[in-house]
Amino acid sequence: MLDGREGKARQKAMDLLVRYGEALGAERFVDTTNVAGVPAYYSPVLLDYYKVTPDDAYDVIYSRFDLDSDEVVEVPRVMVNSCALQGGVDAEGWKTLGKNYDALRMSEQSESASAARGVRILKTCTPYLAGNVPKQGEHCAWMESSAVVYCNSVLGARTNTEGRESTSAAMLTGKIPDYGFHRDDFRVATHHIQVEVPVESMLDWGMLGYFIGAEVGERIPVVTGRIGRPDLIRHKHFGAAAASSGGVEMYHLVGVTPEAETLEQALGARLPLEFIPYGKAEQRRTYEELNSKARDTNVDFVMLGCPHAALEQLREIAGLLDGKRLSENCKLWVFTSRAIKVEAEASGYVGVIRAAGGVVLTDTCSSIAQAVPPGTKVVALDSAKQTHYLPAIMGIQAWFGTTADCINAALTGRWNGRAP
Ligand code: F3S
Repeated sequence: MLDGREGKARQKAMDLLVRYGEALGAERFVDTTNVAGVPAYYSPVLLDYYKVTPDDAYDVIYSRFDLDSDEVVEVPRVMVNSCALQGGVDAEGWKTLGKNYDALRMSEQSESASAARGVRILKTCTPYLAGNVPKQGEHCAWMESSAVVYCNSVLGARTNTEGRESTSAAMLTGKIPDYGFHRDDFRVATHHIQVEVPVESMLDWGMLGYFIGAEVGERIPVVTGRIGRPDLIRHKHFGAAAASSGGVEMYHLVGVTPEAETLEQALGARLPLEFIPYGKAEQRRTYEELNSKARDTNVDFVMLGCPHAALEQLREIAGLLDGKRLSENCKLWVFTSRAIKVEAEASGYVGVIRAAGGVVLTDTCSSIAQAVPPGTKVVALDSAKQTHYLPAIMGIQAWFGTTADCINAALTGRWNGRAP
């Protein structure tokens, strides 16, 4: 490929991957069969910089920006299973998000050009809920920190947190450097967390993840103690939180996750660098920290679905809203993937949320789209990850609590959440 025998675009992609692999100190590539990225995603800045329109931008942006090539090459079909992750616009709810028609057109044009080259248009940060579920041991090349930590930890597949450039190159070559989480020795735990309080609800798991990320940074935690058997949604919130307060890309839960049948296995028969207890005091401190960015108990916006909501979460939200109306002073946006929205519509959940005055949106979220309802001062959230980012991005106050706390705020316009 590097010789150009498989075409110019694959040559450019391989050139980028060779440079990337050399910078990492990798000695070889692995074959990847599952790539998740944002190939040639258009933005006004990129269109302006390269002096192109949405109609003729794909090859230019893919070549020059994604593949770091001076030459514009014709981008062929992808070589391996590839999907497009979240973007900044919901094709149906773009007006709700305050986006203009130009933004919609840009998003649609880059999407259809990707689809024409074989990319699956999932448009979500939870590809594993939308039909892309790699198998244990499969080498992937994924972007999106919350998806990466789920891929490594829960599914036992293997990926580093890739970037737009490396994923776009991997889509054309089916290769990624053999480095980091692709290698057995990199996947063992370094820090032992002992949980001394029951961790059960989604809120509990979000707080535990937030605590651990802040403690271990980019290292790999193994968790023992009172953790029960978390479901998919708890894993999703735990990993996303740990990847936002820190840079956790993989965790082990002893007796739960696939590479941690025992503590010894998770640690690779080594001693942990650090032993960290998580008890009542740590839990309370984490709750207080997550709620440290709010003062005003009047809530004008509730945002749910970070990472994008699973069907069970939409069912819970619909159940809490059934037959009720939102406060006139409060808006409710629930984010999910297109695939899950179709299921939720068929199940009647979207109709119930709409009847109460809420909106179900796809493809993006408030942080990525930098969008909240006009005039928002105070938001309520059930995601530690979104609580970490949204107040800083939008300059608003944020309360953190359970999904029920948030729906209660949407119905009353007031925050009444309490520490667990
Ligand atoms: Fe997804 Fe946005 Fe959260 S992209 S993980 S909903 S910050």
